Amino acid sequence: MVTTSFVASAAAVTGCWVVHAAAASSGVFDVPLELRNVYPAANFNRNVSTRYWQTTVLDGHSNEDSLALSQNLTDASFIVLDQGMYELIGIDGKNGCAPSVEPIFDFPPGPSYTNRLTHDGIAYSPECNCIFLGELYPPNEGFSMIPIPWIWRINLNSNPPKTEQVNPSPPLTLANGATYHKGSIYFIQEGNTTVPGGIVKMDPLTLKTEVVLNNWFGHRFNSPNDIVIDNDDVAYFTDGYYGYDTFKTTLNPELANGVWRFEMKTGNLRQFTGAGGGPFTNPNGVALNAKQDKLYITNRGLTSNDPAGGRTIYEFNVNNKEGIPVTGPTVFSYQDSGFPDGIKTDSAGRVYASANGGVNVWDKTGRQLGIIKVQTGDDSVQMQFVGNDLYIAGREHLYRVHLNATGSQVY
Ligand SMILES: *[C@@H]1O[C@H](CO)[C@@H](O)[C@H](O)[C@H]1NC(C)=O
Ligand SMILES: *[C@@H]1O[C@H](CO)[C@@H](O)[C@H](O)[C@H]1NC(C)=O
Ligand SMILES: *[C@@H]1O[C@H](CO)[C@@H](O)[C@H](O)[C@H]1NC(C)=O
Ligand SMILES: *[C@@H]1O[C@H](CO)[C@@H](O)[C@H](O)[C@H]1NC(C)=O
Repeated sequence: MVTTSFVASAAAVTGCWVVHAAAASSGVFDVPLELRNVYPAANFNRNVSTRYWQTTVLDGHSNEDSLALSQNLTDASFIVLDQGMYELIGIDGKNGCAPSVEPIFDFPPGPSYTNRLTHDGIAYSPECNCIFLGELYPPNEGFSMIPIPWIWRINLNSNPPKTEQVNPSPPLTLANGATYHKGSIYFIQEGNTTVPGGIVKMDPLTLKTEVVLNNWFGHRFNSPNDIVIDNDDVAYFTDGYYGYDTFKTTLNPELANGVWRFEMKTGNLRQFTGAGGGPFTNPNGVALNAKQDKLYITNRGLTSNDPAGGRTIYEFNVNNKEGIPVTGPTVFSYQDSGFPDGIKTDSAGRVYASANGGVNVWDKTGRQLGIIKVQTGDDSVQMQFVGNDLYIAGREHLYRVHLNATGSQVY
């Protein structure tokens, strides 16, 4: 098993890790198979809310190898689990220059009752050459249900990009997910007790908003979470009990949690998975592949760190031309930590999901290629490709990493 090592050199300042074979690990860590499959300590454990590199050796049984493994995993920016990861980070085996995961903005500290500020909603608009990023302070017991009025706008016309708070008008009500479609940003909002959740579209230049969908035969949705829209103007969005269960900010749910298909051209709306059973406890992230014939949907358990929670990504088949338009699912992957929240695909069919400590990456067959790590202590929440740059929204920072890949969405 080849273990490739990289160290930061002067070039790292400009975002490049240069190979120095046999030097101390930094940048890229290719986990030796034998250490992956048999943990190098006799007695160990790891719970769902921690990262791979925080696996705890019990009874003082740590040894040189377990300490080195944990250190190597901690130091790396990229964890390689399959050789396909090298192609993604654009380095040819042991030669070349791996990118750096560069923090480009520090989010201000959150309120005392939550460590999560940013959520799934991140979308790029070519009209302004900017990325919009939704933020919600999940209001908790004893706190106001009044949502924060702003979203973040990351202006890519300058380098480093300028990140600032801007106010959509009328304001959003706990906007969680977002996607770009034909000149508009579509947010999906949870709603609160007075404003029903649903889809709101925003003009990226004027920031004017307009409600697109807020009910099904008069029923409010539970807490719509994430959205994607295909080229035929068909929107897919997830709906769970988040607002009601976690934040106590919505009315009693009157619908099953599930995933909805909304034909914006005809108004046809149906729940295609979830109702009366199905795999989902709380469906969350949603993404389409480049051909728009596969839909990926993530599931969360009863809480974000539910040990028995279905932290699973499901793959559905999409065919708008004939028969039932969405069929499936099959299990695409199961995630090792937390749950897959934000999810994106690239033009080569890879799937990226946010996780505690970084972004997990799989190839289109569901084989995990590796992990793109964010800074120690931070978690990734959602990602957005712009060209070859993957922007990663964390809890504490916004990151940018230059990859040998482009997103699946064509603008
Ligand atoms: C998970 O493990 C971490 C580190 O060992 C520990 O700090 C935390 O309390 C554990 N959480 C639970 C729910 O057991
Ligand atoms: C840690 O990384 C170093 C440098 O790449 C390597 O020589 C060593 O085998 C690794 N050890 C473990 C236990 O991962
Ligand atoms: C970048 O990806 C392409 C496939 O999309 C591959 O042919 C090429 O070898 C990769 N480049 C590097 C440096 O790995
Ligand atoms: C619900 O959100 C709206 C903003 O969209 C706000 O004006 C209203 O006060 C909120 N309702 C409650 C009960 O706080």
